Amino acid sequence: MPPGTPILRSAYQPLAYTVATVDLDFHLDPKATQVTSRLQCVRNEDAPAGPIVLFGDTLELVSLTIDGAAPADGQLRHTDSGLEIDVSADSVALEIVTRIDPSANLTLSGLYQSRGGFFTQCEAEGFRRITYFPDRPDVMARFTVRLEADAATCPVLLSNGNLLETGALPNGRHFARWEDPFLKPSYLFALVAADLKALERKVDTMSGREVLLQVWVEARDLDRVSHAMDSLVHSLRWDEEVFGLELDLDRFMIVAVSDFNMGAMENKGLNIFNTKYVLANPDTGTDLDFENVESVVAHEYFHNWTGNRVTCRDWFQLTLKEGLTVFRDQQFTADMMARASDSPAAAASARAVTRIANVRGLRAGQFPEDAGPMAHPIRPDSYQEINNFYTATVYQKGAEVIRMLLTLLGREGFRNGMDLYFSYHDGQAVTCDDFVGCMAEANGVDLDLFMRWYSQAGTPHLKAEGAWDAAAGSYTLTLSQHTPPTAGQPDKLPLHIPVAVGLIGPDGADLPLVLAGEAGPGDTTRVLELKEASRSWTFTGLSAEPVPSLLRGFSAPVILDIAESDERLAFRMAFDADPFNRWDAGQRYMERVILALAADAAAGRPLEVPQAFGHAFRALLIDDSLDAAFVAEALALPSEAYLLDRLQPADPAPLRAALIHLTRALGLAMKADFLSRYLDLEVDGEYRYHPLDAGKRALRNQCLRYLTAAGSATAIDLATKQFEHAGNMTERYGALAALVQSDAPARVGALEAFHQRYMGDALVLDKWFQLQAGAWRWSDAAPDTLAQVQALMANPAFSLSNPNKVYALLGGYFKANPAEFHRADGAGYAFWAEQVIALDRNNPQVASRMARALEGWRKFTPEIQARIRPALEKVAATEGISPDVAEIVGKALS
Ligand code: TRP
Ligand code: ZN
Repeated sequence: MPPGTPILRSAYQPLAYTVATVDLDFHLDPKATQVTSRLQCVRNEDAPAGPIVLFGDTLELVSLTIDGAAPADGQLRHTDSGLEIDVSADSVALEIVTRIDPSANLTLSGLYQSRGGFFTQCEAEGFRRITYFPDRPDVMARFTVRLEADAATCPVLLSNGNLLETGALPNGRHFARWEDPFLKPSYLFALVAADLKALERKVDTMSGREVLLQVWVEARDLDRVSHAMDSLVHSLRWDEEVFGLELDLDRFMIVAVSDFNMGAMENKGLNIFNTKYVLANPDTGTDLDFENVESVVAHEYFHNWTGNRVTCRDWFQLTLKEGLTVFRDQQFTADMMARASDSPAAAASARAVTRIANVRGLRAGQFPEDAGPMAHPIRPDSYQEINNFYTATVYQKGAEVIRMLLTLLGREGFRNGMDLYFSYHDGQAVTCDDFVGCMAEANGVDLDLFMRWYSQAGTPHLKAEGAWDAAAGSYTLTLSQHTPPTAGQPDKLPLHIPVAVGLIGPDGADLPLVLAGEAGPGDTTRVLELKEASRSWTFTGLSAEPVPSLLRGFSAPVILDIAESDERLAFRMAFDADPFNRWDAGQRYMERVILALAADAAAGRPLEVPQAFGHAFRALLIDDSLDAAFVAEALALPSEAYLLDRLQPADPAPLRAALIHLTRALGLAMKADFLSRYLDLEVDGEYRYHPLDAGKRALRNQCLRYLTAAGSATAIDLATKQFEHAGNMTERYGALAALVQSDAPARVGALEAFHQRYMGDALVLDKWFQLQAGAWRWSDAAPDTLAQVQALMANPAFSLSNPNKVYALLGGYFKANPAEFHRADGAGYAFWAEQVIALDRNNPQVASRMARALEGWRKFTPEIQARIRPALEKVAATEGISPDVAEIVGKALS
């Protein structure tokens, strides 16, 4: 297949031969690792006849035998993607020896080295970089593994499942043998051979089995692992309590590695994590880091059932495991937050804060994806490079689709569907249809229309119109849906959309909801199911015109278009009983104000923040009866990425001018209020990661940010003091961020002090890189951001081969700093092209993620597009560019 040929979902065919057992033997050596693989291949009854198909990528084949004999003439063929072997027996034993060079593997896919140790990453197609194998998720086999390595540099030898045996060998080497009792696809294989230490804990599962939990890290990091271990125990309990799912192994391991392309990987019994999502202690990790560790640990742990016990038939079904598992980790986080609350109202607010964070992420990351050339349904129909499809759509929108099933079926119905799914499909590789089919069967409902969420790309627009009939005391709500065309999918059909609705009375309280024809009121929030292009519902028995509160809790991943006056938004900001919608009303109001300011900035008009907005904003700021975490979210600006898409055409410079002006103006106008809240919110005592404390710190840092933006000497002084006397990273980093997001001269000293203090600490330095790459320029006197980023690349702590560094510094600039990246002289784009090409030589996955920073280029003004095009063309024309990057720039230019 020539590069660029798409792989089609419709072309799925089972393989003629699958694998029953795999026995792997690794002689680990940095430059020449020898892998011996013994496979029992078996004829697949459900597939047409054909050869044994083995995939292989950058492998040196040393030897291959078929039932102990050398292949006959023509029996073994080399193909573009690996090997094919003609056999006639129903069961065939292959022995394959390959040699690989882990030290030269900078792709971080397959077997590679990091800080002297050996690690693997096999999802999606990394196993074929280790040995020839039918490396597809529908081939589930039993694995045994023997690994041997140098005992001094690699004292710890790990693989999936249970440890059978360890022993010493001549020449300072040693070995271990592992066996995984469960069938698994090759993408879940893992090994680790490194110098690590473990934090261990033993717990009993719900059936009373004792299991050993281990978190493996470098010795120097042992003081940062207790939170990951606690998170693992919480996850294990939660899956037992909420889904009745128990850990199925006697041992469960987490390993931290510094060089890793993604967040973490759910290899059976041996999860491998980016250090960023394992290590956290109060001095090095912020509250957000603690939260992220907890949710990523949970995510990977939950994959043991949703992903591993039941896996995907093919990679088009990726959302089967990822959407469902993100949904599960989001529910877990919401439950953990609610559990720590001291009242039902606080619990509801805490859940809303989790939901707000999820939706903020969806709007900033997934909506733009849906609006660009990479738009795809949560189950794509084609791809060129599967690594490009670990997307916000598959993950985040996929989770929203699962959440809609919960909304439609209710808690019990959803749980029944899950139970049926495991009862039918445990040990199998299945499709999204199988999953939704179980939900439908368990609940006796028809979800055929709902399946369109799996095949239709794009963010639907939900239009709402209300009509008040004062004489009849009735309110008619008309909901219409429309999905704009997306890349390659011009025609759209109506979807099955659950719309959670409440009606607010003039006094701010929810009204009883009675639909025409109903006897009496039900809940004050109810779910309307829109299944057609447009439909109306009439609510009766109302004494005054209600204010509708729609899409409560963000009940569907859509854009809600509704005409609301400023007054009505302010009213809902103050009274909406649904805390998510209360927050969203504020965001809508803020968005309106920002877009108007941006238009003024673009036209050279003076910028002025409407007074009424200031009043509504201040009402939230000073309301100390509200949960602090909620207020922190309510005062936060909508993300720049989301706002850019709402500006048509997009223009980052005036948008940034609007954001700076608004932040500064609010900080100036409400200086005394910000200050008094700041002073009240101090958290006493020793740091603990707890949502109540974290909420206070978040709001306090938010206040500090507005205050420093306003530039008063008092504020700079406060921030400097907080920076110097902080007892934890959340406060220290919050103060540094506030200083960096200002034009105070103190920023330079603070940045230097931070660098000095954390010089040897890779993860903390990532924050330092990221903060500078993403900095706004508050005055013309501020340093040139691009020059700054380029200078930071020369810092000895920076490395283009470490993904965390690239994401922090280059990602911080390309993705989190649109106004600076899109500078008018186009220098940002030339730098982008240069770095994408450089990265691509070593690590196509990371290069492709950076390349995606420009995929949405057609949303910009014609002048900006004209400056971007040559950079895209340059990358596209680069000789030897990877399929990963080629797909991104190819789609961008097409
Ligand atoms: N399955 C991983 C998850 O939990 C994703 C992942 C980790 C991954 N490493 C990867 C995907 C490398 C592709 C390539 O979400
Ligand atoms: Zn996952």
